[in-house]
Amino acid sequence: MARTIIVSNRLPTKVRRTDEGLAFAPSEGGLATGLGAVYQQGDNLWVGWPGTFLADEAEQNQVIEQLANDHMRPVFLTEDEIRDYYEGFSNETLWPTFHYFPQYAVYQPQLWAAYQAVNRKFCQAVLDVAGPDDTIWVHDYQLLLLPQLLREALPQSTIGFFLHIPFPSYELMRVLPWNRQLLHGMLGADLLGFHTYGYMRHFLSSVNRLLGHSNQNGMVEVGQRTVLVDSFPMGIDYDKYATTAASGEARRLEQEYRQAIGEDVHVVLSIDRLDYTKGIAERLRAFELLLQTSPELLGKVTLLMLVVPSRDQVEQYKQLKEEIDELVGRINGDYRTINWTPIQYFYRSFPPEELAALYRLADVALITPMRDGMNLVAKEFVASKTEGRGVLILSERAGAARELSDALVINPTDTEEVARTLHRALHMPPSEQQQYLASMQAVVRRYDVHNWVEVFMNRLAYIKIKQQVMATD
Ligand code: G6P
Repeated sequence: MARTIIVSNRLPTKVRRTDEGLAFAPSEGGLATGLGAVYQQGDNLWVGWPGTFLADEAEQNQVIEQLANDHMRPVFLTEDEIRDYYEGFSNETLWPTFHYFPQYAVYQPQLWAAYQAVNRKFCQAVLDVAGPDDTIWVHDYQLLLLPQLLREALPQSTIGFFLHIPFPSYELMRVLPWNRQLLHGMLGADLLGFHTYGYMRHFLSSVNRLLGHSNQNGMVEVGQRTVLVDSFPMGIDYDKYATTAASGEARRLEQEYRQAIGEDVHVVLSIDRLDYTKGIAERLRAFELLLQTSPELLGKVTLLMLVVPSRDQVEQYKQLKEEIDELVGRINGDYRTINWTPIQYFYRSFPPEELAALYRLADVALITPMRDGMNLVAKEFVASKTEGRGVLILSERAGAARELSDALVINPTDTEEVARTLHRALHMPPSEQQQYLASMQAVVRRYDVHNWVEVFMNRLAYIKIKQQVMATD
């Protein structure tokens, strides 16, 4: 039976070393949660890195065995590979470039060499398990070269690729050394998917200007092959979020938190991985401005800010952590009283029931990334608001803003606009909240992650058939 093999840098399960030995836990990030439904079906498989350096063969074998029970096959990375391919080229070259932070990007041949070598390593890991009829679905910016490597080894195979982050304008791509090789690597796929039409347009424009391939309705002729490029906004598991939020445990926790915070205190919630793309420092400044300009809100509003640790070996992330610590300390120092803390800041990840309770509790979700491929937190908030109350403030530069146009959409760089919008959100009449939420819930419910997978897979099957028809014409 033909299988679907998912390939991404990070597996949905990560391994940690503890005093009691190895521990397994779910990974952070939307990608891991989003594809749960696919890889656990039938004989499907997920190939990726378990997130920790494991030199010891006994440990590696333990991980291989444990993950095999859950449809996963690990690719082990050496310490040099983690530094040069993962922290280096992926997160210090591609990540900043694709998120419009070129000033943070480094261009080092040594990192590029590691990126190529690890993409080849992933290729080998897939070839070890893939049969000729399997469908291979490659994910994200860490593996841009993999589709073409797989194509060379398995010319007839069915390969999909999805990019979970923005694809930047040509003006950013032209700065990046090795840009042609990267585009060529992606074009090894039969179908290339992006979250938004805008990202897809940027990609096609780069392919045209850097490689000279034009497109017709998203179809690009690459040698003898036709590659299809399209947009597929990723969804969430709506029912799961709605059910968890409506559960007794979430309600109980909500009450507990409500008592601790105070009955008449508005709650503004923000949740992100620690990342300079998320606009966390700018958001804090906007909240400070709100406190400065709305004295009636002092003692009456609290920002619950959850920041999930991420990539803490990368310099820019370390600096950002310090900046956030300082800002939170300063704002709280200026405004707090004995019974009120303006910003409650948590630097760790939270289990699903606690998150559900926080979504329930929040009057406003403040999601203000400078750039974000999609932002699934916005959709999770919407799905969790089963009582029909709550306001979403969303950056115009998150992919999710295309679908969630009934959010209060703001420019995250405009601190005054964010503060003003926060003020408006905190005073929005319940009937208006309900109306906006209902229309967003309809969209998020309908275009959930299951629909996303189905539509992507159907398009992939379509382009394969189209290629065959064209070959026999
Ligand atoms: C984003 C990326 C994912 C990545 C996740 C967590 O969502 O698109 O590819 O897995 O962040 O980042 P990390 O570096 O910890 O894998």
